[in-house]
Amino acid sequence: MSLPPATLEAAARVLRANDRGGWTVPARDLYPFQWNWDSALIALGWRRLDEARALQELASLLAAQWPCGMVPQIVFHRPDPRYFPGPEVWRTGRTPPTSGITQPPVLASCLARMVARARDRALVEAGARRLLPAIERWHRWFHEVRRDPATGLVVTVHPWETGMDDSPLWDEPLAHVPVPEGLRLERRDLVAVPADQRPRMAHYRRFLALVLCFRAWRWDQRRMAAQSPFRVADPTTHLLLLAAERDLEALARRLGVLDPEAIAARTARLEGAIRRHLQDPESGFIHAFDLAAGRRLAARAACAFLAFRAGLATDGLTRALMAWLAAVPFPLPTVHPADPGFERRRYWRGPVWPVLDRLVAWGLEGEPAARLAAVAAELIRRFGFREYHDPLDGHGLGGRDFSWTAALALDWLADG
Ligand code: DGY
Repeated sequence: MSLPPATLEAAARVLRANDRGGWTVPARDLYPFQWNWDSALIALGWRRLDEARALQELASLLAAQWPCGMVPQIVFHRPDPRYFPGPEVWRTGRTPPTSGITQPPVLASCLARMVARARDRALVEAGARRLLPAIERWHRWFHEVRRDPATGLVVTVHPWETGMDDSPLWDEPLAHVPVPEGLRLERRDLVAVPADQRPRMAHYRRFLALVLCFRAWRWDQRRMAAQSPFRVADPTTHLLLLAAERDLEALARRLGVLDPEAIAARTARLEGAIRRHLQDPESGFIHAFDLAAGRRLAARAACAFLAFRAGLATDGLTRALMAWLAAVPFPLPTVHPADPGFERRRYWRGPVWPVLDRLVAWGLEGEPAARLAAVAAELIRRFGFREYHDPLDGHGLGGRDFSWTAALALDWLADG
């Protein structure tokens, strides 16, 4: 189902209004800086409007890469009082200021899509050649600096690194994070969005406690990986990294750059670790793993369906996807409505996110892919470019004029 031209023009207007000159804010009032996986997905929208601008979006993010290889979650290009915690809290000592954690790696996959669909092939391929070494260093950082020696899995040290901050996946491991006495917390997010649509205070206190802990460790990434009070293996990070590694290897072969064999070898190791530790042998479902406790977590979330894109589909997982698609009028609910943790309006605890539908559909074909596209198109037509929606009545929630929702309209829903 494709969107009418007027909706696509409105999507382009959202990107232009959120453009800060080479980088794009996810949402004007809520997220006034550059976010990592937002930018990569936003670049796919820019690709339809201006391929040079799309490449610039990725380049401005990679320019903030740390010497160790990490590409940060947030780049604070210029001061803005509307977001907490800002650079004065993170104090990572970087120029431009950045946060000190990362986000799910989708850059390589977005760049691969830009190359595959390029209108100006010479321009986009030249851009890809320039950007790929930095992306490869970031992937290597996941394997080296963030490798859990016991399992071979990638260590995630903060729920913000998963992009799915308050998902019930993190309730159990977060409960072990100590909160310092007298912790001072500001909820500037609640100016733009009602409190029942945002993470609870109890979650936020632990989010901030982790930031302060890592700050006291001077953002020593190896220490964070080894000793963080929150150490998990996140399905989203693993499945998107696996897909991104496959895309990176294919780009390396196509453009004759990097070392595709080395990428293939580490991809095979990552796949083995995911199959051994995250994928349930009977149901095929992909779970989170609490590395601090040494066990797979029982909680289930829709990010498991990114496994289709990562090449880990099983019959059981296909049956689960069908059940989740049928569970609500507007799938995918991020948490199944039969789950006691389900909340229809609260952030990653139930609402349908068009961006997650887009990422899941990227790995699907046929009816399920068409259904997700039809849901996203209907939500956008009825409610505009929102951050997420109530999966029972479709009502728009969270941020408005959301850049990655506008981008997916242009990149995914424009062609039908
Ligand atoms: C927030 O502040 O809500 C973000 O999700 C952090 O990336």
